[in-house]
Amino acid sequence: MNTNGLLAIIGGTGVHLRDNTLLSNVRDEVVETRWGRTQLSRATYENREIVFLQRHAASSLDDNKIAGQAIPPHRVNYRANIAALKKIGVTAIFASTAVGSLKIEYSPGTLVLLDDFFDATTCRAKTFFDDRAVHIDMTEPYCARLRSLLQLTANDFGFTIEPRGTYVCTDGPRFETPSEIRAYAKLGDVVGMTGVPEVVLAREANISYASVSIVTNLAAGISPSPLTQAEVLDAMKVSLPQLLQLFLAAAREYSDDASVASRRATEEFGSPDVF
Ligand code: HPA
Repeated sequence: MNTNGLLAIIGGTGVHLRDNTLLSNVRDEVVETRWGRTQLSRATYENREIVFLQRHAASSLDDNKIAGQAIPPHRVNYRANIAALKKIGVTAIFASTAVGSLKIEYSPGTLVLLDDFFDATTCRAKTFFDDRAVHIDMTEPYCARLRSLLQLTANDFGFTIEPRGTYVCTDGPRFETPSEIRAYAKLGDVVGMTGVPEVVLAREANISYASVSIVTNLAAGISPSPLTQAEVLDAMKVSLPQLLQLFLAAAREYSDDASVASRRATEEFGSPDVF
């Protein structure tokens, strides 16, 4: 087992861990945190332990109406998810998100290694630090070391991945209007509903975090036809297995380096333990 860091993969609606022949010893776990409860899975991959968290399944929602359904993006308990990963000792996260493309060059199926985000959400809990002012640096919101590990692994595999992209995050759950998309296209490259505040909370928790977006559709007004949830889910089904392969191959090479900026974001505030 690896002693040098524990890596989690977030995303994965549609990833069936028990059917994956690369993984063994898959077991589910519920983690209680002060921010709520989260379910996750651990599995062994080439002698390493890897953690999997399905963002839309993992929530503290005690709402019978929603049990067994995917939790919508604006109601995901992002704080419970990240706090749970922190609590079990996760030091790095590879996340995947479904996105609409804001530029015609990024057609459905394109993988984008994010390097920046624009937060257009308005109704989410965005910080672990509600009781004191902790202003963390976001000059490089996605961990450069993890990004370069993913890029190098993609190169080794011959996977094509766009080396950078800015993610615009909306609350959803509706898709955007054409006017909104014209505005967002000035601010970013892809638009989705789940990437923020996850990336922020990971940084507040001193966990290295990198994210790859899968373009599932051209955004509203750019797409020649109205958007459907089915096209998003269908496109994810096609691209997710390839992305999972990339994440697992990169995870094999991962080791923790606690000196990098993403692992020390709250150091100047005394690394308060809020988990
Ligand atoms: N907009 C917002 N979120 C998305 C989209 C989109 O077009 N496609 C997949 N997730």
